[in-house]
Amino acid sequence: MFQVKKELDLTAEHEGLVIGLIDKPEKFSGSLAKLDESFHGQLTELVKSGDISAKVKHISKVHSLGKIGSKRLWFVGLGKEKELSFDQMREAFGRLFKEIQSNQLTEAAVYLDSFVTEKIDQLDAAHALSEAAVLSMYQYNGYRQKSNIPERKLSELTIYSDKAEADEAKASLTVGYTFGKGTNSARTLVNTPGNMLTAADLANYAAELGAKYDFEVEILDKDEIEKLGMGALLAVNKGSAEPPKMIVLKYQGKEEWKDVIGLVGKGITFDTGGYSIKTKAGIVGMKTDMGGAAAVLGAMEIIGELKPEQNVVAVIPSTDNMISGGAFKPDDVITSMSGKTIEVLNTDAEGRLVLADGITYAKHHGAEYLVDIATLTGGVITALGLHTTGAMTNYEPLYEQVLEASMEAGEQMWQLPLFESEKVRVKSSQVADLNNSPGREGHAIVAGAFIGEFAEDTPWVHLDIAGTATTSKACDLGPAGATGVMVRTLALFVERFEPIEK
Ligand code: BES
Ligand code: MN
Ligand code: ZN
Repeated sequence: MFQVKKELDLTAEHEGLVIGLIDKPEKFSGSLAKLDESFHGQLTELVKSGDISAKVKHISKVHSLGKIGSKRLWFVGLGKEKELSFDQMREAFGRLFKEIQSNQLTEAAVYLDSFVTEKIDQLDAAHALSEAAVLSMYQYNGYRQKSNIPERKLSELTIYSDKAEADEAKASLTVGYTFGKGTNSARTLVNTPGNMLTAADLANYAAELGAKYDFEVEILDKDEIEKLGMGALLAVNKGSAEPPKMIVLKYQGKEEWKDVIGLVGKGITFDTGGYSIKTKAGIVGMKTDMGGAAAVLGAMEIIGELKPEQNVVAVIPSTDNMISGGAFKPDDVITSMSGKTIEVLNTDAEGRLVLADGITYAKHHGAEYLVDIATLTGGVITALGLHTTGAMTNYEPLYEQVLEASMEAGEQMWQLPLFESEKVRVKSSQVADLNNSPGREGHAIVAGAFIGEFAEDTPWVHLDIAGTATTSKACDLGPAGATGVMVRTLALFVERFEPIEK
């Protein structure tokens, strides 16, 4: 998609030539002065009059009237240089590419140097550009007939740079592109309806990903799941016509299988709530209940592309949560793979059950650091809203690394506390070691505390993306629907991970 060229060529014929505008320039300099000369100084006048805006995230289009090779100039406002953050630049690019897409351009050029600021060097600008392009122009076409899908798409982008580091810029473009692609893959998995994406389908997807990137793939079917005693995953699956899968992908980037990071994603392909059934309104959208699994698979795609020097085992317990004569029910007591018994008080608290076996199995595969990710509770939405992922941990130094990655990715997260008082509540059953639903008060925290019982002493971070995995409103970096949240955070976390001396 990207092509890097040295020196801005004003005679080249592009459908659009994109220029970044910082600090409302009074005069253009360098290559842009030449551009302004081609317009007899009219561009300077248009900036003065406000017809070309330097306000942050404003896009202004100017027809070139044949004065240069490109048909139109597209100016991207970047506001004040001192105030402009990397996240804002990425959003500005997002807005640009959305506009480019709705104008049905198939080809365009960007003058990268005009996006370089004191704080944002050329490599960062290149990363922001490509990541934003891939994210913002994402569309889920699903099962619409061809005639209902817009056909013209941007497929060629020329990046001009007068600077010497043009080759490195190319590498940065590729990294941003890869992060965008991995996120979009997760979005598509989450947007796919439950009848089109069963546990077996998710397993096939993972196996294909594994084949492409040479991961070790292990897909446990129902017999093997039974043999290993994964009673929690099996309980949730009992009401289903579709067999469960335990999906494992291993990526080894170090000589030895040590310092292993376990990424465990909730893979509920549809959540009816089971006998603790959801309401008519509450059940709609529950195809997205494999958002944690999608985030893990999206991150594994990026890891497969960029091959960091790390060891990762991805574990995805997958099934739907259905109702039938054979389904599990409230009051049932089940035995998890760890041996811990669980009293089921609410069949709609199924995520923590499948994750319990997922965590135990990740440890079985040598995981020494755990991150679980799940569309786990409505409670996290009550606590933190729709734009912030809830986090919990039993080991602050690990959480700090995940938090750092989230800040770099521009994905908000906030920590919820894990106090003894809540640990006690998940252990309050009279008939089993644990109970899966000790009441609605602080139930995002209680859900995390439950999962923590299976992490035990292994450093662990829990991410609840029930609020952030989907959005009802389009934003600069994507349409309404699945967001692909935490794909980039997880991938960056893995890439930058440093084992912690204990
Ligand atoms: N999958 C849901 C959580 C969810 C809610 C995801 C809204 C996305 C949007 C989860 O399995 C669930 O049902 N949680 C219950 C737990 C309760 C029964 C303790 C909830 O949050 O209400
Ligand atoms: Mn549920
Ligand atoms: Zn669920």
